Amino acid sequence: MKITTKINLITTAWVLCVLIAVNSVVFFSFMKITVNMEDDELHQKAETLIKEINKETSLADTKEKLLPYLANHSYIRVIHPDSKIVNQVTNDQQMAAKIKAKFADKKETERVTIKLKNQEEQIAIVRVPIKSNGQVIGTLEFGKKLAGLELGKDLLLSILTFCTILGAVLSLVGGRWLSNLIMRPISNMINTMEDIEQSGIPKKIVIQHETKDELHKLAVTFNRMIGRLEASLEKQRQFISDASHELKTPLTVIKSYADLLLRRGIRNEEVAHDAIESIYSEATRIQKMTEKFLDLADTESGNSLETKEFNLVSFCEKICKQLQAAYKREINLHFNEAWITVIADELKLKQVIIILIDNAIKYSMDKVEVYLEDSKKLTRVTVKDYGLGIPEYEIDNIFERFYRVDKARSRETGGTGLGLSIAKNIIKQHRGEIKVKSTVGIGTEVELFLPKRNEK
Ligand SMILES: Nc1ncnc2c1ncn2[C@@H]1O[C@H](COP(=O)(O)OP(=O)(O)OP(=O)(O)O)[C@@H](O)[C@H]1O
Ligand SMILES: [Mg+2]
Repeated sequence: MKITTKINLITTAWVLCVLIAVNSVVFFSFMKITVNMEDDELHQKAETLIKEINKETSLADTKEKLLPYLANHSYIRVIHPDSKIVNQVTNDQQMAAKIKAKFADKKETERVTIKLKNQEEQIAIVRVPIKSNGQVIGTLEFGKKLAGLELGKDLLLSILTFCTILGAVLSLVGGRWLSNLIMRPISNMINTMEDIEQSGIPKKIVIQHETKDELHKLAVTFNRMIGRLEASLEKQRQFISDASHELKTPLTVIKSYADLLLRRGIRNEEVAHDAIESIYSEATRIQKMTEKFLDLADTESGNSLETKEFNLVSFCEKICKQLQAAYKREINLHFNEAWITVIADELKLKQVIIILIDNAIKYSMDKVEVYLEDSKKLTRVTVKDYGLGIPEYEIDNIFERFYRVDKARSRETGGTGLGLSIAKNIIKQHRGEIKVKSTVGIGTEVELFLPKRNEK
């Protein structure tokens, strides 16, 4: 069943229940109040009449007194203690004949239903004792057909039934309108989602009115999610196109040298040697590049870190020693404390520090300085070089994938432009920060900030 139909049926059923309950209360209250009013009126009449009767000595002489109190469709009786009627006046013989006289020594009210001309009629009866010298000598009985009540009851019942039906119809129409109003944005979303499912292309929902309600919020959240998905797909597309572009150059070089070898290289040893050397170096470049692609994909996928606590000083000492030996360049490590505790993924942090020192070595000719500083909240690692420097307007770009400030030089140094992107991803995973300060011709300082606690 559609949700609109469900909402509609439930609201209508509820409104119907409420109307029936309210109308029942109205109906029964009306009945009670009207009947009580009739009873009170009869009682009052009876009380007034009793006062007059009490002045008489004999009950048999009361007939004259009864007549002025006779209302439409009623009777008044004076009844002897043996339940015999002493006097009776009536304008509805048929009704009076159907009701048996009854002696009562105290006040009482009764309601009886009798059948008159195939119709049920309600009769209100009031009995009041007649006293003389403290003794009950008879009963005054008033009987009155509740004709107005029957009429009023039927009318009220018709009005209430009509109101209930009208209420139910209005609720059905209103419920339909309301559920359509609520469901319109949801249907919109469902259609958009179905479109996305079929075409595989992320698409945003068209928000017609800024209603600022939950549904508007849902649509905005959905659009934000789609926006992120689009951005990530765009990033992926860009990555594939950049990566294939990067691979194209070394592959072209390899292909052309292989071609050269095929044509005349084997006969000419010198040419063959050159070609094989070039093929080897370009293949190594491709290998390094693909390793970096994998690193980048790994850090971007947000894989969980294998963090542990270790001493940053001895950790950096080891890295510097290795790189110094490999690059034959002076790398100085500076620290104030011999023990700086960090909580991080050892392998990944090593990768970041290597990326930074590698850049410092590649883009400078002088020594490289590494500083370790510790504070209550942060641990700072600074890699400083006295090299080329980076123009200020390029600083934000160098974290972009495949971005290299000086393409020719980078090619010479074998750079792919992925190092800083990988480093940034890893530091982001550690909830840290990476900052670059640089002056062209003077040198560059790259700072890593690692939080003391790795709240994951
Ligand atoms: N210390 C530095 N001094 C001067 N320029 C730098 C420095 N570090 C980075 N750069 C510039 O930023 C660019 C991006 O650096 P990144 O490390 O991402 O790539 P890369 O070094 O070119 O290649 P690789 O992927 O091999 O690291 C470099 O090409 C270089 O132009
Ligand atoms: Mg680099």
